[in-house]
Amino acid sequence: MSIPSHVGIIMDGNGRWAKERGLPRREGHLAGIDSLESVLRRAEKLGIPCLTVYAFSTENWKRPGNEVKFLLQLFEETLMNRAEDLFRNNIKVKVIGRRDGLPHGLLRTIDRIEEKTAGNRDHILNIAFNYGGRAEIAHVVSRIIQDIEEGKEFRQIDENVIENYLYNPEFPEVELLIRTGGEKRLSNFLLWQSAYAELYFTEKYWPDFDGDELEKAIEDFKKRNRRFGGLKEKGGE
Ligand code: FPP
Repeated sequence: MSIPSHVGIIMDGNGRWAKERGLPRREGHLAGIDSLESVLRRAEKLGIPCLTVYAFSTENWKRPGNEVKFLLQLFEETLMNRAEDLFRNNIKVKVIGRRDGLPHGLLRTIDRIEEKTAGNRDHILNIAFNYGGRAEIAHVVSRIIQDIEEGKEFRQIDENVIENYLYNPEFPEVELLIRTGGEKRLSNFLLWQSAYAELYFTEKYWPDFDGDELEKAIEDFKKRNRRFGGLKEKGGE
């Protein structure tokens, strides 16, 4: 098996990492940005074309107001102040998720970073923010219905049609899905795109995850035999 074309990451365990150190939870989220940077650098080096990270779920609104506010601010500040070193000149950034409910300032910042990185060709980084897999599928269905009402005709609604309506139709399906922090759940992340993903769970909290840990996950992935419901590895002999 070669390098996965798309790796999804559920970055979990920031709060517990901070608690174990007697620090406020926000310190865990701040440390999480450094992990993301380390992972991005290694993903480039390994030649992973596409990465999607789960930064804020549609369920995360249930957290205490001050933590929600902090996460929104941290995301915006990171996009504004750390874009140069995080994305350099080779990562095309796309934010996927529901736009409604997000502050206007943040939406403008998202638009700006997407525009600024749109010409980058080497890698894609999707940041799932205010994202839910079921919400994405509901979004696809309602957009298809809207288009039909406006006169668009489909011979049939098949998987290809659905894929064209996903938040980012450009990315390949997830081949490796990593979750840090010890839980073994998908938590509504990329449900459609992960149908055949290999799953990799690690006890490491996200702030303790880095490029070396990513490489371990990739090594584990390479040893797996992917059959996609058939008898032999896809594309194999
Ligand atoms: C899960 O840990 C982590 C989050 C909800 C936020 C992750 C966000 C970042 C690392 C920053 C994202 C920024 C960019 C630019 C992508 P948790 O709080 O659920 O940890 P716990 O399970 O230990 O409480």
